[in-house]
Amino acid sequence: MKYLIANWKMNQSLEEIENFIANVDGNSSHFLGVAPQSIHLHLVQKMQDKGIKTGAQNIGAWKTGAYTGEISALHLKELGHNFCIIGHSERRQYFSESLIHIKQKVELALEQKLICVLCVGETKEEKDNKQTFAVLEKQILTALNGLQDLSHIIIAYEPVWAIGTGLTAQGSDIVTNHGFIQELCLSKLGFSPPILYGGSVNDANAKDLSKLAHVSGFLVGGASLAPARFNAMASQI
Ligand code: PGA
Repeated sequence: MKYLIANWKMNQSLEEIENFIANVDGNSSHFLGVAPQSIHLHLVQKMQDKGIKTGAQNIGAWKTGAYTGEISALHLKELGHNFCIIGHSERRQYFSESLIHIKQKVELALEQKLICVLCVGETKEEKDNKQTFAVLEKQILTALNGLQDLSHIIIAYEPVWAIGTGLTAQGSDIVTNHGFIQELCLSKLGFSPPILYGGSVNDANAKDLSKLAHVSGFLVGGASLAPARFNAMASQI
């Protein structure tokens, strides 16, 4: 089974969502998922009828309480959603999400048995300074160390410089970095998660990227907004 998860970010009008729901194929042997803005979660939930999983782009770092503007993992689960994305680089960058808060979010997601898509990846500067492995190791181990059951964890490797830029990472770098993540998870945490690639994946490159070693699928932003492109990627993974 491969994975295709749409991260719609702060996009999609009501009309665009209705069009997506009407035209998405679904009913795939793969794991297909959609993460809309949280105000739209109830709309996309209809797609669960087509076997498409629904989830949030972020959750709060606390279970419930006085945290204005946050989304509770408990309530996400209560409403019947399936997964959440945690630690996306846009959250780390624009909302100052710390490694500690990301760990708390992962714990809360796992407590609710939500599938947790943990995003990791290096910036351009870190890549140029050959710090990619060190960055990935720190992001992954800080988030997952000490957790008992990691069976609901998916890791999305998303080089920050490749997100929304049209610059996809080189196939050889994807294989190397996914291989590193796989080995790290096995040796230090004793588990072998699906590892998704994200960063300018689209319906023209998904087929080739899908053939790379250690690539279990994709987390896709811009190219996931239109149902035809999502369907095309789903048929290529
Ligand atoms: P992109 O975004 O596909 O638009 O590069 C990917 C992501 O941020 O998950």
